[in-house]
Amino acid sequence: MTRTYRRISPVAENYPASSIRKMFNLALDFPDAVKLTVGEPDFNTPEHIKAAGIRAIENNNTRYVANAGIPELRSAIARKYSGRWDRGIGPENVMVSFGAMEALTFALDVTVSPGEEVIIPDPSFPNYMGQVHRLGGTAVSVPVREVNDFKLRAEDVQASITDRTAAVIINSPSNPLGSVMDRAELEQIADLADEHGFTIISDEVYDQMVFDDAVFTSIAEVRPDFDRFLAIGSFSKTYAMTGWRCGFVIGGEDLIAPMSLLQEGLTSSLPGFVQEAAVAAIEGPQTDVGMMVASYAERREILIDRINAIDGLHVIRPEATFYAFVNVKEWGLSSWELAIALLENHNLATIPGSAFGPAGEGYLRLTFAVSPETINDACDRLEAFAASR
Ligand SMILES: Cc1ncc(COP(=O)(O)O)c(C=O)c1O
Repeated sequence: MTRTYRRISPVAENYPASSIRKMFNLALDFPDAVKLTVGEPDFNTPEHIKAAGIRAIENNNTRYVANAGIPELRSAIARKYSGRWDRGIGPENVMVSFGAMEALTFALDVTVSPGEEVIIPDPSFPNYMGQVHRLGGTAVSVPVREVNDFKLRAEDVQASITDRTAAVIINSPSNPLGSVMDRAELEQIADLADEHGFTIISDEVYDQMVFDDAVFTSIAEVRPDFDRFLAIGSFSKTYAMTGWRCGFVIGGEDLIAPMSLLQEGLTSSLPGFVQEAAVAAIEGPQTDVGMMVASYAERREILIDRINAIDGLHVIRPEATFYAFVNVKEWGLSSWELAIALLENHNLATIPGSAFGPAGEGYLRLTFAVSPETINDACDRLEAFAASR
């Protein structure tokens, strides 16, 4: 038998390139650019969390640890979410992962087979598309529209279900949309999951980054007996710990248990000292979290007021996260053309909405996890662009 020689696998060769990364790379040529691109807190990790990590290293917690996470961390996460969701969650329901990214890998690995379909919102976090592709699954996009306040609708999900639908990824609060899904829509999607037998993979990494005018509901809260979900969380955003790479997934023990085996073959385990820092994050004072969210809320006001005063731009006030999804359609350029023009002519880096899927065309994502001075500077540049048209 002859075998066609192929140096690079099709999965690697066709992996969907992230336009966010493309924009980052372009912006590198403009070192002085004002950047509203970053998707991470501008705060440092709180001192007591860093101290716990350092202490753990000094105590030689530097060896391999359990695949599913150290028992103290699994228990701490279980206690926290039992309380938040008013639902019995035990350590056996928790898998610790390398950020929410690896939690997503596990969630898809245990629910989706090659050739099956995964419904994802459009626009959404671009890595969903890449992860489904890596598995040999097919991503089926469901548009999320501005007329619906950028909230995913159950009826749109329903229209995309086929007999090959294995999972539906939802992301509330949403990156890039800043919206929070309504409880009624979540309940209806849960009904659809029961009816059609798919799993809801709910990316809830911004669950605590919600402003006072909004109410966040987790998929775990829709009904006490609903169990067709895997809820993904992270320390990255809530505790300003993006570089520590600590996340988790919570769900039924039947789905969580196999993840340990998968982890053994992937990375074995997260560093124990990272996990000890994560325990300190959950069990220590939560004042930093409240302070950070209050600060994002203030900065949101500055950005929203200024954007809505610029000729041709409008933006829905985000209810959560630190992203604003700005409608730029009146300016008549594609979002990619506009992002390039802003970078080249006004030294302003933004992310084109189309980076998050075709339905993001006509929008720019601006992050407000930057200083008020940077927000004002960026808005001056958008005004200058508006005046130069
Ligand atoms: C919606 C969403 N999910 C997951 C992640 C990944 O988070 P982590 O740092 O925990 O891997 C991000 C990061 O930007 C995100 O925006």
